[in-house]
Parts: sequence; C-alpha cells; structure tokens
Amino acid sequence: MRPTSRAAAAVMSCFLSCAAIGQSAALQSPQTFDSIADPSARSQALFVEAGKVIMGPRCQNCHPNGDRPTQADDMHLHLPMVVRGPENMGATALRCMSCHQGANFEPVGVPGNPKWHLAPLSMAWQGKSLGQICAQIKDTQRNGGRTLVQLQEHMGHDDLVGWAWNPGGRRIPAAGTQEQFGKLIEAWVATGAACPAS
Ligand code: HEC
Ligand code: HEC
Repeated sequence: MRPTSRAAAAVMSCFLSCAAIGQSAALQSPQTFDSIADPSARSQALFVEAGKVIMGPRCQNCHPNGDRPTQADDMHLHLPMVVRGPENMGATALRCMSCHQGANFEPVGVPGNPKWHLAPLSMAWQGKSLGQICAQIKDTQRNGGRTLVQLQEHMGHDDLVGWAWNPGGRRIPAAGTQEQFGKLIEAWVATGAACPAS
C-alpha cells in the first residue's frame, strides 16, 4: 500500500528531517508534561509524545493494513513479494524466517529477531491516526487480550518491539530509547490512558 494518509505524510517529513541529521529523533521525558494540570490533557500529551515512536516506519512496517509488510522509511511494499499467510508468519512455502533470522544479518542488511512476523490485521496501524491507534491498542478485543499493564510491559520490554531501536543496516532507529518510550507509556497509563482526539 502506498503511504497516502496524512499520518504517513508526517512520517515522511520526519524521515526527511531525521535523515538530514542522520539519527533518530529525541523523546521528551514524562516530567516535561508535569505542568499540564488536567490529568486527561496530560495523558493525551504523553501519548502524542510516544507517537513519535508509534507513527515511525520501524513500527509501522510490521503493522500494515493489508497482506504484505512494508519496508524502509518510505514504507514501500516488501520486496520480494511476501504475504502474511495463515499465522502472520508468511505463506507455507515462504515463511518470514526463511530469510529473517534470529538477529540482524549485517552482511546483506536483513533485519532479524527470533519472533519476526507480522502483527495481525486487528493490530494494523498503517493509514490510521494516532488517536485511532490509541483506541485500538487499548481494546482487548483487538490487542491480543492485553491489559494496560501488559501493554506497558510489551512496549517497554518486548524484544521484538525493541528491535526498532537496533534495526541494523542503514535504518534510522525509532525515536529516543525503548526505556524512555516505556516510561512515557507508563506515565500515560498512570494518568488514565487518555487518547488524543485525532
Ligand atoms: C518484526 C515485526 C514487528 C515490529 C518491527 C514491531 N511489531 Fe508490534 N507487533 C508485532 C507482532 C507480530 C505483534 C503481535 C504479537 C502478539 O500479539 O503476541 C505485535 C503487537 C504489538 C502490540 C500489541 C497491541 C496492538 O494492538 O498492537 C503493540 C502495542 C506493539 N506491537 C507495539 C509495537 C511498537 C511500539 C513497535 C515499534 C517500536 C513495534 N510494535 C514494532 C510485530 C512487530
Ligand atoms: C525471500 C526473503 C524474505 C522473506 C521470505 C521475508 N523477508 Fe522481510 N526482508 C527481506 C530483506 C532482504 C529485507 C531488507 C530489505 C532492505 O532493507 O533493503 C527485508 C525487510 C523487511 C522489513 C523492513 C524493516 C524496515 O523497517 O525497514 C520488514 C518489516 C519485513 N522484512 C517483514 C517481513 C515479514 C513480516 C515477512 C513474512 C511475512 C518477511 N519479511 C519475509 C527478505 C525477506
């Protein structure tokens, strides 16, 4: 799928400026938002900051809204042609792990992780606004039955999520660090996990 949405356009413009400095964007700490007195407004602001990670291509490429992963910062369709298959792990004849190994393979720049596969369609993020993604990741019908605490644990500590900060090759890592991202999500949950309107 071509990145046509406004969200994708925002990712692209971040890509251009981030690429210009050759490194990922910084993340503000949760304390930066302490001055926002209203807890719901503070919660939303925390999630918008975490959105610098969530809307980035390192995460979005594995959360497509279709049958194929996307690649690189322009989020073009995965080449060679691969499909999600019955368990989001590729077609029977061409599994993700046929090419993606347990770790990044630097000689040819293939990213890797022992759990490398696509997020299921119920967790598709591409083409959605940050507010829509926020509502979706809180919805236990669509998020794999995770509580807010499990969601926080997944974002802050899961090693497949963590790949985004160690993507190998010439890929630009996700904004900040996974630890900083985890702290933002923790503060977002602690303030009531409010979602931005858009
Ligand atoms: C290599 C592919 C891949 C990458 C890269 C990836 N994810 Fe995922 N993500 C998955 C898979 C697969 C699942 C489903 C896992 C499960 O339910 O056990 C998932 C599920 C999730 C969930 C569960 C809830 C939901 O509704 O989506 C969250 C939250 C999440 N990912 C966050 C992230 C973030 C944040 C990043 C980037 C920093 C990221 N992911 C990068 C593959 C990926
Ligand atoms: C035939 C080999 C092959 C298969 C099978 C394969 N991939 Fe890939 N994949 C690659 C190569 C090579 C790259 C690196 C391309 C590049 O960055 O130039 C890549 C890159 C990616 C990226 C890009 C990461 C980023 O942020 O740029 C994602 C996401 C991805 N693959 C997901 C998958 C998923 C999910 C599957 C299974 C449904 C899969 N791939 C199956 C070869 C394969």
